[in-house]
Amino acid sequence: MRIHCLLYFLFLILSFISCTPRETKKTIHIGFSQAMSSDNWRKEMEKSMQVQASLYPRVELEIKSANNNVKSQIEQIKDFVEAQVDVLIVSPIKSKPVTTAIENALKAGIPTIVIDRKIESNNYTAYIGANNVDIGEDAAKYILSGIREESTVVQITGDIASSPAKERQLGFESVLKHSKKVKLLATIHGDWEKPSIKAPLNKLLDSVNPDYIFAHNDRMAIGGWEVLQQHNIQNQVKIIGVDGLYGPNGGIQYVKDEILLATILYPTGGAEAIDLAVKIVNGEFVNKNNTLNTVVIDSVNVDLMQNQFNKLVEQQNDIEGQQEVIDEQVRAYQSQNSMIKLMIGLLILLLALALWSIYSAIKISRGKRKLEIINEKIKTQRNQIKKFAQQLKVSNESKINFFTALSHEFKTPLTLITSSIETISEQNKALAGESSFEINLILNNSRRLIRLINELLDFRKLETDSITLKPRKIDVKEILEHVLNDFKLEAVKNSVQLKVKYSKDPCFLWIDVHALDKVFFNVLSNAMKFTPPHGKIEVETIEEVDKVKISIKDTGIGIPQEDIENIFNPFVQASNNERPSSGLGLYIAKQFIELHKGTINIHTQKGTEFVITIPKGYEHLQHVEIYTDHINSIVRDQEPLKRSEYEVLALEPTVVQDYFPNLLIIEDNMDLCRLLVKQLKNDFNMYISNGDGAFKKVLDLIPDVIICDLNLPETSGFELAKKLKEDLRTSHIPVIILTAMADEDSYIEALTAGADFYMTKPFQMDALKQVLKTVLYNKERLRYYYTNKLDSVTSTDFDKEEQDFIKKMNKYLLNNLNNPEFSVEELARGLHISRVQLYRKVKAILGVSVSDYINGLRLEKAQELLQDTSLQISEIAYEVGFSSPGYFSTAFKNKYGMTPKHYRG
Ligand code: FRU
Repeated sequence: MRIHCLLYFLFLILSFISCTPRETKKTIHIGFSQAMSSDNWRKEMEKSMQVQASLYPRVELEIKSANNNVKSQIEQIKDFVEAQVDVLIVSPIKSKPVTTAIENALKAGIPTIVIDRKIESNNYTAYIGANNVDIGEDAAKYILSGIREESTVVQITGDIASSPAKERQLGFESVLKHSKKVKLLATIHGDWEKPSIKAPLNKLLDSVNPDYIFAHNDRMAIGGWEVLQQHNIQNQVKIIGVDGLYGPNGGIQYVKDEILLATILYPTGGAEAIDLAVKIVNGEFVNKNNTLNTVVIDSVNVDLMQNQFNKLVEQQNDIEGQQEVIDEQVRAYQSQNSMIKLMIGLLILLLALALWSIYSAIKISRGKRKLEIINEKIKTQRNQIKKFAQQLKVSNESKINFFTALSHEFKTPLTLITSSIETISEQNKALAGESSFEINLILNNSRRLIRLINELLDFRKLETDSITLKPRKIDVKEILEHVLNDFKLEAVKNSVQLKVKYSKDPCFLWIDVHALDKVFFNVLSNAMKFTPPHGKIEVETIEEVDKVKISIKDTGIGIPQEDIENIFNPFVQASNNERPSSGLGLYIAKQFIELHKGTINIHTQKGTEFVITIPKGYEHLQHVEIYTDHINSIVRDQEPLKRSEYEVLALEPTVVQDYFPNLLIIEDNMDLCRLLVKQLKNDFNMYISNGDGAFKKVLDLIPDVIICDLNLPETSGFELAKKLKEDLRTSHIPVIILTAMADEDSYIEALTAGADFYMTKPFQMDALKQVLKTVLYNKERLRYYYTNKLDSVTSTDFDKEEQDFIKKMNKYLLNNLNNPEFSVEELARGLHISRVQLYRKVKAILGVSVSDYINGLRLEKAQELLQDTSLQISEIAYEVGFSSPGYFSTAFKNKYGMTPKHYRG
């Protein structure tokens, strides 16, 4: 943008320099149509015009020669008229043919000067030339003045179609007419050039012997002299010419050389014509006829004349020289002028650039200042952030240290609890053949807690680089076999196929047994967690030259591509993972593998594949002590969960009691499920869902109450609760949320989703039992309300979905009340739910069967009609949909304790 401005500015300056006019006044364009340029007289005329024109700086003279061709002269005149010359000068070849062309030029508004030869009209601006009649007279008078006795003369005229020839003849003959002394022997008509007269004169001289020859110009006079020479009478005949040109072949020189007796000066008038033209353009007054002086030049005045001409020529040369100097100076002035302008332009540009630079410098310095201030601020903020980060780190460290210390503290009592409960379990087994459910529950959960604490402590050690590997040479398959053993039961239980494919030979690696045990355990736990029933987990070892690869591949839900790079970061869970997890397992696995200089990579397409690569040998384990002692059995610091002992506990109720409400538990922690089943099975028909397909299970079951966790594998508890409450078929079922999420946001979200109660873990069983009671009691109250106030279901105290359902059903029923054929199936279809769902829903909301409810509705309507109308009883019976009045009476009596007739009284 700035460059553009500068270029534009430069362009303006250059335009200013180039456009400045050199001349303020307009030039004067003078066009001159010359008759011919072949002879010296004409050349002299043109030269004098050019010299004179050069004295006028504005005058621009353009000379065109017609080469003695009349047609081309007429064309030239037209061209000058078209070019709109300021003044036109014409020296006509012949008088008559050029007259119209000149008149037209004048008509076109172009001032026209006629020079030397005349035209046949007065339609021109001015004429300039000598008086040719006078010239003829002067010639005759000169002959007369020189003779004593009678003499003869031959006249040689110019082209008689041109005015000078006519007028010179006229003048010459008019004088001779009155003289008796001089006799005109003959007149030869030439064309102004020598060749035209030579032959006729030659012939004439055969018969006459003249004393004088008067030729209308010097050129023809010399032609005559040459003819006289041929006759050898050149000394006897005296010749008088016209023109009197100065110079080697001019008349003056011939007079001086005594070839000519005399010549009559015929001035060209070139310079005068230019003066006249300028005057005309300037609007000054000019005479129409401008006569030039003539003089006879003979031996008497020839020297004087020559001297004068010499001086004149000298002066002219001086003028020309000066003119050249002036021209040179003008050129120098003009180039200097341009130079100065250019320099001024450049100076302005320089000035502009300087100003621009100053402006830019100020701007930059201001910008810099601003940046400095911002920088300063950023620096301060950065320092503050650094300080905060430091503080945060310190506080974090102290928190982590606190938790680590606490974990250590937990570990001892937990280990004590675990070992004690192990002892109790053994004793129990010895006494009763198997240990109790509660003992196994405590044992498993305390082991789980120990594992979690170990994970936390490992994490801390890894963070502080305080883990020391104890590498021993061991077959990696041995460790894998141990870990896989822990998962075999779970795999069977979950219907997950656990496939193992080992390489043939033992795969000896230098590894820390405990570290690798944790790695495999964590990766396999992860695979097990995300592999659905009937899925597959494949473990494979591949031995290569310098490393061993262990691949653990599952057919689980996979890891979203965007989560992969973070999956090994601590506290991170994949976005599609709804299950509770510390997010430490995979982080620890990766750290341990890296301590072994190995790698762990994930491939995920259908399911997930973890590929662990560990280098062979121990060269890579520098700075680590290598243990060469052999260990016979792998001692693990994490015990597997003993599932087998309580797997037998039935998850579905064996005997369904009709009078028990149906309770569905949606929870993926099977231990908790089992505990709940054990505790609640005496009051409820217990049903369990681990979250997979939970909504379908609710639809199949239409339970009386639901206990639901928030972290579920398929959908979250929030979404499930919302879905249940939005669906007409399930909206009436009370939902109790039982979750570990104790934050306020989750609480609000769950209630917004429609949950009826929110309970956090750990919970007291008695409290849960009370909540179940309350929720069911409330439903009972609602049921009473509905069954007794069917026509005014408007209270906002009750669930909107249920109100809507009842209203919709009542409307449907009232519309079909008089139809004895109307069936429960038809009603279910009308409400877009199944017959069983309708039955369960009505039973759940209203506590009666659908057909009882319809009957009740018919009788209520009949009661109304009995009171308010005078319809016959039988009519009323049909009106409310009874097929016979007798059956109506019985039913009415059953409900209201009196017959319809009695009721009406
Ligand atoms: C030149 C010339 C002169 C003569 C004049 C008459 O072309 O022939 O010699 O005086 O023209 O127009």
